[in-house]
Amino acid sequence: MSDIFSGKLAVVGLGYIGLPTATVLATRGIQVTGVDINPKAVEAVSRGEVPFVEPDLAVAVSGAVAMGRLTASSSVPEADAYIIAVPTPFNPDHSADLSYVQAAAEQIAPRLRPGAIVVLESTSPPGTTEKVSRWIGDLRPDLHMPHNADTVADISVAHCPERVLPGRIMIEMITNDRLVGGLTPRCSERAATIYRVFAQGEILITDAASAEMAKLVENAYRDVNIAFANELSFIAEALRLDVWEVIRLANRHPRVDILKPGPGVGGHCIPVDPWFIVAAAPELARLIRTAREINDRKPHHVAEQVVAKAQRFRSPTVACLGLTFKANVDDIRQSPAIEVVGLIAEALPDVEILLADPYVPSIPPKLARYDNLRMAQAADAVERADIIVLLVEHEAFRPLRHTIFNGKVVYDTRGAWR
Ligand SMILES: NC(=O)c1ccc[n+]([C@@H]2O[C@H](COP(=O)([O-])OP(=O)(O)OC[C@H]3O[C@@H](n4cnc5c(N)ncnc54)[C@H](O)[C@@H]3O)[C@@H](O)[C@H]2O)c1
Repeated sequence: MSDIFSGKLAVVGLGYIGLPTATVLATRGIQVTGVDINPKAVEAVSRGEVPFVEPDLAVAVSGAVAMGRLTASSSVPEADAYIIAVPTPFNPDHSADLSYVQAAAEQIAPRLRPGAIVVLESTSPPGTTEKVSRWIGDLRPDLHMPHNADTVADISVAHCPERVLPGRIMIEMITNDRLVGGLTPRCSERAATIYRVFAQGEILITDAASAEMAKLVENAYRDVNIAFANELSFIAEALRLDVWEVIRLANRHPRVDILKPGPGVGGHCIPVDPWFIVAAAPELARLIRTAREINDRKPHHVAEQVVAKAQRFRSPTVACLGLTFKANVDDIRQSPAIEVVGLIAEALPDVEILLADPYVPSIPPKLARYDNLRMAQAADAVERADIIVLLVEHEAFRPLRHTIFNGKVVYDTRGAWR
């Protein structure tokens, strides 16, 4: 068995994770087919274009496509290895919605030949990688699958969670340490051959369920720490203290490093993944659940504050700066900023609300039903508004801190203009 994978590979799901993964492998000489059910993603990648913003990705995709190493398709081809990078949202009861993963496994199953490797990269609750093996086994009784420990498996199935930071994906995909958890030690070893193609970080071999849980724990750790900062912001406000000053002082202790409060927690991962732990151990995951609740409460609190400030004006204009879930990316999934805007728009239907975000060209679908919202340039919005709410600390908003805000109310939820 070679240490480094050199066969054909298919990546199922060409989103924020799948497309960079496909591209990084293709630029290192692997023949990669990217598969997506969204025809727009397939068309864009086929033209060598990227359907979203991620630094350094566009040039890598256009190079990989021009070299003929990366192609895109709406159907799963035959390959020596498959990486699944489809969404894993949660259901209304906060359990994981594995329907995309199951659909991907079922698309791969008919194509599998003995010797193939299947890696699940999607963030998943413990036991999902084993389910992938079972779903494939149900459709392919001719193949020995590794969840049947008593057989020598024909197919290797493993989990390799992704822990990149949007905005730094092309760097972190290479430099981060990777966890590779197979259903058997041989599955781990074979899956690791794929990551040796490009990973400069260490490849840590483990079992599938530990790899699944480790990824969830990483995001729950972040969530709990952000919840601590957000809880401090509630307490400081009630005690009429400046939370930023309190945190600045506390962080001068050599073993204290409190994160920053904000308008809530967004994105595809941190507000979602801790719930998978809560669903797996509802009686035990008390701190993790409470942290989720604190962070989910924050957008409501920010909106309530803005509504209270608006009472001081006869007919105020509100400017909301930033709509993405974090700074300097175009990702609006689960964005607390959008939730804040929706709550203000709902509570103040007669108030004009100006939205400015250099990464969001038009009103996001979730806000389409409010007719008191207008997109604006940030400088214009600030000039026209009576109340300015900074929701995302985009670099582009930094110069605005020098604006003279005569008579305007400024609500800086990120502490960026201090
Ligand atoms: N975005 C991140 O920063 C990040 C970081 C770490 C882990 N993850 C995890 O990675 C996984 C993927 O996340 P993402 O951000 O890339 O999602 P995404 O929504 O950007 O991309 C997923 C893609 O999969 C496609 N898809 C869905 N079902 C499919 C199917 N059956 N066959 C082919 N394509 C299909 C969608 O059309 C979409 O283009 C999730 O589990 C997520 O939690 C994401």
